[in-house]
Amino acid sequence: MCGIAGCILKDSEAAPVLLNCLKRLEYRGYDSVGMATLNGSKIYIKKDSGKIDEVSKRLNFLELPGKMGIGHVRWATHGPPTQFNAHPHSDCNNEIVVVHNGIIENFNELKKELIKEGHKFRSETDTEVIAHLIEKYLKESKNLEEAARKTAKRLKGSYALLIMSVHEPDKIIGMRNESPLVVGISDHGLFLASDMPAVLEHTNKFIHLDEREMAIITNDDVVIKNFDGEIINKEIKEVDWTPEMAEKSGYDHFTIKEIHEGPNAIRETLRELNEVKKVAKKLKNIKRICFVACGTSYHASLVGKYVFEKLLGIPTDVILASEFKYSVKTLDKNTLVIFITQSGETADTISAIRMAKNKSKTLAIVNVVGSTATREAEYVIYTRAGPEIGVAATKTYLTQLTCIYMLAASLSGKDEIIDSLKKIPEIVKNTIKLENKIKKISEKYKDAHDVFFIGRGFSYPTALEGALKLKEISYIHAEGYAAGELKHGPLALIEENVPVVSIAPPGESYDKTLGNIEEVKARGSKVIALGSKNNKDLKEISDEFIPIDPSVDEFLSPLVYIVPLQLFAYYTSVGRGIDPDKPRNLAKSVTVE
Ligand code: F6R
Repeated sequence: MCGIAGCILKDSEAAPVLLNCLKRLEYRGYDSVGMATLNGSKIYIKKDSGKIDEVSKRLNFLELPGKMGIGHVRWATHGPPTQFNAHPHSDCNNEIVVVHNGIIENFNELKKELIKEGHKFRSETDTEVIAHLIEKYLKESKNLEEAARKTAKRLKGSYALLIMSVHEPDKIIGMRNESPLVVGISDHGLFLASDMPAVLEHTNKFIHLDEREMAIITNDDVVIKNFDGEIINKEIKEVDWTPEMAEKSGYDHFTIKEIHEGPNAIRETLRELNEVKKVAKKLKNIKRICFVACGTSYHASLVGKYVFEKLLGIPTDVILASEFKYSVKTLDKNTLVIFITQSGETADTISAIRMAKNKSKTLAIVNVVGSTATREAEYVIYTRAGPEIGVAATKTYLTQLTCIYMLAASLSGKDEIIDSLKKIPEIVKNTIKLENKIKKISEKYKDAHDVFFIGRGFSYPTALEGALKLKEISYIHAEGYAAGELKHGPLALIEENVPVVSIAPPGESYDKTLGNIEEVKARGSKVIALGSKNNKDLKEISDEFIPIDPSVDEFLSPLVYIVPLQLFAYYTSVGRGIDPDKPRNLAKSVTVE
């Protein structure tokens, strides 16, 4: 995910206004930043990797001359965060500049074609092909608009684009396919941006572009067309958001916003399938797999054990990164060590990668492009969750699981799993609709001192992760247990005022889990059960029932069943007056061992 913004102002310089817009979009990407302005018939560009405040001061963005410009905050997808890879990108002669949010899936073939035709590339990004394609088509088109449309016809993937050119120095063209783009209309100028927050300081009047629509803004006019060049009449909508509210897109906290972003994060990660297949092809003679991670990423790894052993029958261990040094002696060249880390900077995980490399094959599953883990491991697979601001991992957990299933499906050649995975975003979206019901349940139980979470097999990691989310953001003592383990000790703690959250998707372990629920019910415990809508017996036995609809079998259930537990933790936190985005004593990225 990246953020883009552009403006044409009537009476003032664009640079300070644009810089403010980008600051408002920083939550969409913060590893690089860049701006281009157009003055007379010349384009000026400043860009680099780093945070907005630091880069804009160092390069003096405010010096950029002119009343129109485009800008970008980057969350790297193709190519690490470097000066060359930062946006805007331009054509061979610096006459066309482009900023882009999204992923161009066919950029490799387009790049090869353009290089053959003599185009010279400066970056490793997918975006640069767009500037060169416009350059190419401008030679055979009557204007920039037509060249932009011809370019769009060649692009596969998702994009929101802003285009500016010295050939038509009075306009900015915005184009949308799958990635969001809005037009902001104010008395002192016109704006284009990924999101309303960028420009709320200037206006509350917006036109929302739909799929395959483009906006052409000039000094005093905006025209919306489709990708066939036909004019479309769009409604101008007024919103009543404040700039602060809008950074969270109207949500009260980043945590809840990020839970809602889960379905899309899975969708974006599924686009990595070809990359995952490429990595899978290179992994030969694997006799043992070893997952290494911390916290939530460790729980994703535990799901990995169940998935890999089921699909591949390869013995799979899961080791906490901070405990890894005690297992290093067991590594050999036929072991694949998979490191899972959202940030790519967790010190325990990084030091484990360093211990494992040269002894075994190392693969990192990482969210942050260019982070240390991606440089240390031999192979890298990216989760495409976009930036996660809330300290508690939510959407990134779903994308880590998505990568695990894709990798296991690729290694085992079981393509039918990919077909099932493609249905998951919609099921997660439906599950999020249970939000109000879950909020009411959390209100009932928010004063509990202890909560237990139980599940078997594929649901055991879900129980652990559900408990971690609750303790981390609500400060209630919570324990996750394999349901069958309860009777070996913890059952002594179960009594009337200790609620038990039971994860019971349909599948092999269902009947036994039901038996364990009976055990806790017999001790007077209140049971909050998660199961398929069709499981009437589960509904009857539980005090609160969270029905998953449509039904998902236990094999893929970790991707869905964690979502109600994230919502439960969130609403319990809010109900107890805690800020879920910033739990005490915790940091988003733990860079000390
Ligand atoms: C919990 C949480 C942490 C992280 C852990 C590892 O919600 O976010 O437990 O999962 O600190 O972080 P990464 O994945 O960045 O290595």
